[in-house]
Amino acid sequence: MADLFTPLRLGELELPNRIWMAPLTRCRAEAEHLPGELMAQYYSQRASAGLIVAEATMVMEGNSAFWHEPGIYNQAQIEGWRLTTDAVHQAGGRIVLQIWHGGRACHPLLNGGRQPVGPSPLAITGDEVHTPEGKKPYVTPRELADQELPAIVEGFRLAARHAMRAGFDGVEIHGANGYLLDSFLRDGSNQRRGPYGGSRDNRARLLMDVLEAVAQETSLMGLRLSPLNGYNAMRDSDPIGLISWLAEQLNAVPLAYLHLMRADLLGEQLGDVLTPTRERFKGVLVANMGYGAEEANAAIHSGAVDAVAFGRPFIANPDLPERFASHGPLNTADPTTFYSAGPAGYIDYPRLNG
Ligand SMILES: Cc1cc2nc3c(=O)[nH]c(=O)nc-3n(C[C@H](O)[C@H](O)[C@H](O)COP(=O)(O)O)c2cc1C
Repeated sequence: MADLFTPLRLGELELPNRIWMAPLTRCRAEAEHLPGELMAQYYSQRASAGLIVAEATMVMEGNSAFWHEPGIYNQAQIEGWRLTTDAVHQAGGRIVLQIWHGGRACHPLLNGGRQPVGPSPLAITGDEVHTPEGKKPYVTPRELADQELPAIVEGFRLAARHAMRAGFDGVEIHGANGYLLDSFLRDGSNQRRGPYGGSRDNRARLLMDVLEAVAQETSLMGLRLSPLNGYNAMRDSDPIGLISWLAEQLNAVPLAYLHLMRADLLGEQLGDVLTPTRERFKGVLVANMGYGAEEANAAIHSGAVDAVAFGRPFIANPDLPERFASHGPLNTADPTTFYSAGPAGYIDYPRLNG
């Protein structure tokens, strides 16, 4: 029976354990969305993860949603990321890059006045975005024309090519949390007519196009989805039906893994998305959200999932697998430094053994 410490084959990679580091935006990139030494140090500290999924990274210029998030659309960023991939590999780790378009979560103040884009002219409500001028309400996105979508697909394809050039072991497509691909997928944010709106097939079309394009650039492609998550004012009228249908469709895609956020960060939309996905999807299934070692072990042991990704526990515990193995105490993550600048709360969480 497998557990957290059973190796897992993932494409050409042999993962030594099933304790994955979830993608975590930490806003520590330098000016111009450039990954630097500090990020390399942070990721290499976490190299004992079975797999690191590096944070959401901009596929195209002008789509910043968090301020100091990294990009992968120019040569300097490719070279900047090389610091991280080299450091992680030298420390014995494995790392893929989450590639991302922020869609309607982007703000003009972060993008030289540029209006964000989305499937429909519907703003994110109930939250605010950090900008150089403080917290601001989200703005209403401009509805993308169908003819503009191939350029976005091309942006993802190029980002994947760049990621492989930067030395990553693969890429994860960010199809979760209300950003561009997810906002097309779910019907609360997609009210389009035509080939990219309406039916499930149509709402999934952009995502499927991106998967097809990215598969040409890497042999290790993962996908992250969050059918229940209400973060970024997201809703779907039938999340279980949507994921059940999509899980089947994804069998026809060369996916190395499907990474599923099992719940709603806001705790409002309830349901079990893991069971119907496991029943239908034939590939590697990775679950995330709110797991501790015991529950994760049980989920793998029962065959419900193949691996578990940990977010906040990995922020606070660079040596999380060693701590799980020795049943050691865990550091607690400090939310005040999640998105702050500099090394504090980033590379200074202590290891168990010095
Ligand atoms: C500071 C922070 C940054 C995050 N950034 C990302 C991100 O870049 N991409 C993503 O898909 N999810 C992101 N998430 C969500 C996490 O990957 C994860 O789903 C969430 O923390 C729940 O898992 P946990 O309970 O193990 O922390 C972020 C979460 C936090 C707390």
